Amino acid sequence: MAYLLKDVSILGGSPTDLAIVDGVIAGDAPEGAEVIDATGLVALPGLVDVHTHLREPGREDAETVETGSRAAALGGYTAVCAMANTSPVADTAGVVEQVWRLGREAGLVDVQPIGAVTIGLAGKQLAELGAMASSAANVRIFSDDGFCVADPRLMRRALEYVKAFDGVIAQHAEEPRLTEGAQMHEGEVSTRLGLTGWPAVAEEAIIARDVLLAEHVGSRLHVCHVSTAGSVEVLRQAKARGVRVTAEVTPHHLLLTDELAAGYDPVFKVNPPLRTRSDVEALRQALLDGVIDVVATDHAPHAVQDKECEWAYARPGMLGLETALPIVLSVFGEKWDLIADRMSIAPARIAGLTGHGGDLSAGTPANLTLVDPSARRVVDPAELASRSRNTPYAGMTLPGRIVATFLRGEATVLDGKAVK
Ligand code: DOR
Ligand code: ZN
Repeated sequence: MAYLLKDVSILGGSPTDLAIVDGVIAGDAPEGAEVIDATGLVALPGLVDVHTHLREPGREDAETVETGSRAAALGGYTAVCAMANTSPVADTAGVVEQVWRLGREAGLVDVQPIGAVTIGLAGKQLAELGAMASSAANVRIFSDDGFCVADPRLMRRALEYVKAFDGVIAQHAEEPRLTEGAQMHEGEVSTRLGLTGWPAVAEEAIIARDVLLAEHVGSRLHVCHVSTAGSVEVLRQAKARGVRVTAEVTPHHLLLTDELAAGYDPVFKVNPPLRTRSDVEALRQALLDGVIDVVATDHAPHAVQDKECEWAYARPGMLGLETALPIVLSVFGEKWDLIADRMSIAPARIAGLTGHGGDLSAGTPANLTLVDPSARRVVDPAELASRSRNTPYAGMTLPGRIVATFLRGEATVLDGKAVK
């Protein structure tokens, strides 16, 4: 199918026509191309998420590769990296290939599996990183996300191991001894509520250690869901020294604060926890500065029984794929170059996903999304494509509607609706 996007604004530029032919951006559209009136719409390279939980295999009641892929496409994504904390854990070539194959079958976004760093995420023994890297899934990012690779010797070995194939270790930075029993950010609000705190230093101490290890080994470290102002300072210094470190921030850490825990609604329980207003300000500035490289959703669907229960028993995590761009738009406004870099170009580079994060010039793969920045939408959990409902934004009015998404020239979303 060929398309002609009439009067589209590429990254906020003046209106032009953009043709999609045979899976690539083309100079001209052939006769019979489907014409889309894109007046007022902005074209962005398809968004890329380096941190998505798709829950398959194992928790298909919360999400599947297919439902998560549909949520991603509706959010403007053309590629997502699927976290390894599935059941069984994605710690072998067999499991990562299964996830990769399910992604291909769904055909809505490119699903790039992340492999576990340690067997069973248990933090004791390295998983078969090389076998996952050389499998059909071509794994380049490894993470025990959900858990920290707390043992410094294992972390060092993992960093050494992946150097051979330019892999990267994505660390969930949480010193477990400092967060035992933790329920929310440690601070004024946790004191008032009497909930055990998750101190900022538990994150900052691991990031500080790991940038030193990455520097020592000369390998690549990626820091998941950075949540504190102190972490930003550690990263700023490490980057200034030339350490090969990249970092992500989630939409929720760019917007929400720990005050929300006061209502004890577990929809606001997440790991790392929501922090303070000054942390939020520091994270926003770090994303603008480039100290934080990317926005990653940490899309974490949970079944009703795991989320709608007492705060202490609820699983941490919130949905993110279908609201990420609207949240970023609401925080930063229409900074299209920033959005394209932090949500597509840089994540594609970190994940090694060639074909994504392009510049929409003629001849490049047609992975793109069309956004209506003037539209506003009230978030209704019942309307989400995700199989789960745990969005913290229910009832909020957010700017920006994803009108269409194209994966290698095929529409996955048209008129704001999933094509399949
Ligand atoms: O809130 C979170 N949820 N943080 C994590 O690190 C894991 C994730 C999940 O798997 O639900
Ligand atoms: Zn995590």
